[in-house]
Amino acid sequence: MIIGSMLAILVLGIVMMVISIFSKAALAITAGLAIGLFIWIAILFWPVFPVFSGVLVLLAVIRAFKTPASGLILALAIFVVLFIAWQILLVNSVNREVISSVDVINPKGTEGKALVVYHSKTNFTKKVSYAFANGLADKGWKVDITTASSKAPTDLSGFDLLVLGSPTYEWRPSQRIQDYLKMLGDLKDKPTVVIIVGEGYTVLSLPTMEKLVKQANGKLVKSLALWKLRPNIVNGEIKNPEEIARQAAQELKL
Ligand SMILES: Cc1cc2nc3c(=O)[nH]c(=O)nc-3n(C[C@H](O)[C@H](O)[C@H](O)COP(=O)(O)O)c2cc1C
Repeated sequence: MIIGSMLAILVLGIVMMVISIFSKAALAITAGLAIGLFIWIAILFWPVFPVFSGVLVLLAVIRAFKTPASGLILALAIFVVLFIAWQILLVNSVNREVISSVDVINPKGTEGKALVVYHSKTNFTKKVSYAFANGLADKGWKVDITTASSKAPTDLSGFDLLVLGSPTYEWRPSQRIQDYLKMLGDLKDKPTVVIIVGEGYTVLSLPTMEKLVKQANGKLVKSLALWKLRPNIVNGEIKNPEEIARQAAQELKL
């Protein structure tokens, strides 16, 4: 979704750039769009900084030299207002509750019992949460897995491990996972794994999630940050995030 919005802005920027050959106002808006896009990408994906945004900024700066400063400021202001409005709508939409039944993986497993609860809108968190669940099943665990909704199990007494999977939305774990944690209340030292995913910037959401688990008296046994765009590097090697999640579960020690 976020890639879609960025592409839409990029296409709009290119169209404006073509129009700007004929119009000064379009020129200023193009510069505003380009700078806004640059900042957005810089904040979200700093480690895999796309070259095209740098090119856009360069073009914008060159063009802005020919534009009155007030035009540029207006363009930036318009961009910021639209950007904030769009983000509010987007964050509300991605944080909407997803209710699903409990899926049982390896029902005959006897080595331990885990509850995996995740929130996912575009399936990445779902995939890595299932990969983690399958890793536990590989070593003989029975795993119940479901989405973070008002219908998700809240009695943890029959489980040896709780696993929480959450996307990052605006530098924070998803509100759904935070609400689910509130529903659970006191975790009573329950061994807990947190999996945080994002396009590439999880440096704030992971510690927030860890803190929330500790505040709820959970015993944090593993935390993982996995990325969609930024390469996931383990021991100097780029690895598939699902593979990392599955292996982490296989190697998990309580
Ligand atoms: C509104 C919004 C804000 C986001 N903020 C961040 C962010 O701060 N850092 C990041 O790395 N990814 C961010 N993302 C990307 C998502 O975390 C990423 O697409 C994730 O895979 C979504 O999980 P899902 O595929 O399970 O729905 C954001 C996505 C959206 C829609």
